[in-house]
Amino acid sequence: MIAVAITGASGPVLGVRLIEELLNSGEAVYAVVSEAAWSVIAHELGYKRTGPAPLAALLTKRKKTKKLKLLKEFAPGDFFSPLASGSTPFKAMIIAPCSMKTLSAAANGYSDSLITRACDVALKEKRKLILMPRETPLSSIHLENMLKLSRAGAVILPPVMGFYSRPEKIDDLIDFVTGKALSLLGIKHSLFESWGKQVSRGAGTRKRTA
Ligand SMILES: Cc1cc2nc3c(=O)[nH]c(=O)nc-3n(C[C@H](O)[C@H](O)[C@H](O)COP(=O)(O)O)c2cc1C
Repeated sequence: MIAVAITGASGPVLGVRLIEELLNSGEAVYAVVSEAAWSVIAHELGYKRTGPAPLAALLTKRKKTKKLKLLKEFAPGDFFSPLASGSTPFKAMIIAPCSMKTLSAAANGYSDSLITRACDVALKEKRKLILMPRETPLSSIHLENMLKLSRAGAVILPPVMGFYSRPEKIDDLIDFVTGKALSLLGIKHSLFESWGKQVSRGAGTRKRTA
């Protein structure tokens, strides 16, 4: 089981897409979406949260996964969730995207929500913790928090696009970043081709037309 949190930075679609691909790969996902993330989801994805399982409802609407039985979602204030305890053997935790606020809390062990508590648990139990911080430009406070987390064992994975995969649409860029996260989680995927394969197919020498 992998824990996935979506916080209120721009790009909640990155977390949503990641969850879809984790479910498609057969991986169980425990998900937490922060209050701020729901506001950004409403703004960026035009989706208003509804019902007792709003994330499952969003995934149902997007139709990119049918494996919703593998998904469990928890409210950000639910400290009775299994994610709040080191006794729950989640393999890894990822925050996609990660706001600067949650980054700061995670860097300082400030466990004021289920998301930051689960980060604390991942770090203390020496499990994989991946943060996808989204802000630009970055202040020295942001950078220091990232360095602190990296030194504590977390992986900092900014959602930085790569153009060597020749993206043609926004979904290609989202899949590129999602693929990077899946690779770090040790999950096989076909969201983009590795560089060697692209070059052998000739993509590395193809001329751009525009
Ligand atoms: C539309 C929108 C976009 C935002 N984008 C970012 C962002 O990219 N990075 C960031 O750190 N905060 C961003 N914020 C501010 C966070 O939502 C805010 O700091 C919030 O307290 C984060 O809470 P959370 O970490 O609990 O989700 C954004 C807010 C809104 C409404």
